[in-house]
Amino acid sequence: MNSILMVCLGNICRSPLAEGILRSKAEKLNLNIRIDSAGTANYHVGDAPDNRTVLNAQKHGIDISKLRGRQFSIEDFDEFDTIFVMDSSNYSDVVSLARNENDKHKVELILNRVYPNSNMAVPDPYFGGEQGFENVFILLEKACDVIADSMVVSKE
Ligand code: 4NP
Repeated sequence: MNSILMVCLGNICRSPLAEGILRSKAEKLNLNIRIDSAGTANYHVGDAPDNRTVLNAQKHGIDISKLRGRQFSIEDFDEFDTIFVMDSSNYSDVVSLARNENDKHKVELILNRVYPNSNMAVPDPYFGGEQGFENVFILLEKACDVIADSMVVSKE
């Protein structure tokens, strides 16, 4: 089974939303993918996603309220085929834990699937306003469309 891990800093804004969006697309396309999310930091271990993210996801018909924060661990390199990160700081943090080239090759900036080689970030919305959360949704929705479509192709 394909397995995908979404990673951001706190695991309460961007990566749980990415997890929820991709899971919803996978269900619609009947894809058998394992999807999870984690944060590079331990600030929000055990916490529900940020309420602003929960409400934004809900507005788009996605329920992420039951997810709980956890921290990325080295074992995740064994558990997941692909590790999508949101920005260059997540990328450096995760890659710094890689044990070998195989681990390192699993790590990708998620927006490179939409804008190849651009190294664009999904901006951290935590300290901003409502529009930042909607912007994150729009970017992650585009990325998850491309990711889900690539899974349909690989299933055929
Ligand atoms: P996330 O956003 O990485 O998208 O979950 C953040 C959440 C919490 C903090 C920073 C970013 N924080 O500093 O607590």
